Amino acid sequence: MRYLIFSDIHGNLEALEAVLNEVKRKRIDYFLFLGDLIGYGASPNEVIKRILTLKKIFLVRGNHDKAVCGLDSIQTFNPIAASAIEWTRKNLQAKYESFLQGLPKGPLIIHQEISLCHGAPFDEDYYIFGEFDAVEAFSFIETPLCFFGHTHFPFIYVEKDQQVEGTFIQESPFELKLEKGARYLINPGSVGQPRDRDPRAAYAIYDSQTKKIKFYRAKYDINRAQKKILEAKLPSALAERLSLGI
Ligand SMILES: [Fe+2]
Repeated sequence: MRYLIFSDIHGNLEALEAVLNEVKRKRIDYFLFLGDLIGYGASPNEVIKRILTLKKIFLVRGNHDKAVCGLDSIQTFNPIAASAIEWTRKNLQAKYESFLQGLPKGPLIIHQEISLCHGAPFDEDYYIFGEFDAVEAFSFIETPLCFFGHTHFPFIYVEKDQQVEGTFIQESPFELKLEKGARYLINPGSVGQPRDRDPRAAYAIYDSQTKKIKFYRAKYDINRAQKKILEAKLPSALAERLSLGI
């Protein structure tokens, strides 16, 4: 089985389309999405509409998804993120608001092998930054493989012989071969708002036959996504950061 692993689209239709376009040639059996469909970008309705065209998709909700549909308050968000959430609330179609309300909370277990969560398996809003957090996360994971998002950084944590080691993935493409007896906690990076200074859309593909995970970056029309943000009168910093990948 081949799985597309993707996260944090944040209303960036151009980035999402670029990823879906690239994977057309790579045969995908299932789509696994790790949360934050919307928030920040100017195309929330279009992103959800496109996601709903994907068959065989499993999703978990992100903190922005929750805040936009009223399941969480905006108090924990910084002023720029909060104003983007307010804008998205105003502009989101009602049918998509109820779609967001129905998204499951992670961890979600797929095919007895894979866990999906947005932040961490013990708290969907927690940021896994570093090995200390990863050790805690592993103690809650019941599968050999767990995918997470939320930080917008492509990252691998491996647990082997009771040691946990983290690696930031800067190469693209980058291939990881899963070892027997090890467990993995993996972030594919962000589709719509990468923060690792590489502005290209990030995603990964897991092949359960070959036991390989490959990390990719897709170029997309950043200018168009930025133009839409500015035209929508969302904070201009949200447009600027896309070309910097921060
Ligand atoms: Fe996010």
